[in-house]
Amino acid sequence: MIVTTKQLFEGAYGKYAIGAYNINNLEQTMGLFRGCMDSQAPFIIQISKGARSFTHKNMLEALIRAADGIFPDSIFAVHLDHGDEATCFDCIASGFYSSVMIDASSESFEKNVEITKRVVDAAHSKGIVVEAELGQLGGVEEHVKVDEANAKLTDPDQAKEFVERTGVDSLACAIGTSHGAFKFAGSQGLHYEVLEAIQKRLPNFPLVMHGSSSVPQEEVARINAAGGNLKGAKGVDENQFKRAAELGVTKINIDTDGRLVWTRVHREFFRDFPEKFDLRDPGKIFMSEYAKFIAHKNEKLGNAGQLFSVRKLVK
Ligand code: G3H
Ligand code: 13P
Ligand code: ZN
Repeated sequence: MIVTTKQLFEGAYGKYAIGAYNINNLEQTMGLFRGCMDSQAPFIIQISKGARSFTHKNMLEALIRAADGIFPDSIFAVHLDHGDEATCFDCIASGFYSSVMIDASSESFEKNVEITKRVVDAAHSKGIVVEAELGQLGGVEEHVKVDEANAKLTDPDQAKEFVERTGVDSLACAIGTSHGAFKFAGSQGLHYEVLEAIQKRLPNFPLVMHGSSSVPQEEVARINAAGGNLKGAKGVDENQFKRAAELGVTKINIDTDGRLVWTRVHREFFRDFPEKFDLRDPGKIFMSEYAKFIAHKNEKLGNAGQLFSVRKLVK
């Protein structure tokens, strides 16, 4: 069943975070639903601009609608990840997305407020909820390039003003993470003090943590042993999710870790079975490994086992 992120956040606030997982294809879709049903977790499916154009924007919608029918007990939101204004409007018009993210974080504060407000007004008129971003993560996002060294953490006073002026439903905050497999060069870490200050000014308001892949070292080692070349890859300690959830983070974004599972499975498969060429062979292994990975993440996020209580909230 498709619900809004707002409905999911109501049950989660202060207790646990909902995993927001990016998908691009059939195998990821199937593995994600299986992993969330195995761990009895509500979840958020994220679709980026790149994922929409990978095949055709209707393709993932069809896969998700099919999966919803195959797993009738699932409860999830469908969310546009890092949208620009035009993509947000397209998703709002589609009638499929229950939530959109407008990312105008590279603009000035005033321009970010202006753009976000336009998206919020259009989305709310159709019952769709909106996430926006304030501050800048390190790493590379789709249409936003930010130098690691110049990553700007979210200003807590600005966060309060931004939320009040835009009417946005949740806020992605920059607290030291970055996208991709190479986070925390040097001694960087999570800035809990920024989250604490934001929570003080915006009590009970759902916050979002992007760039939250943990880049497991065992996964990286296996990829490199099977011919990969990922040197110095490093991520967020997944044991830190719980503290972030207590400080108001209700949505934690994970994409890179899933890509690492895909890369490990396929590199090892073709190394070990050089004579094989049926794409379904590694595909089956990937779906099973991805489901296990998702169930593990849901345990760490605290949303494993929450499906029963969420069902009571959304019915
Ligand atoms: O934040 C970016 C997400 O990991 C999506 O990545 O734009 O390559 O699909 P993508
Ligand atoms: P990772 O690159 O850490 O998986 O972050 C994903 C993300 O923030 C998607 O919006
Ligand atoms: Zn992101």
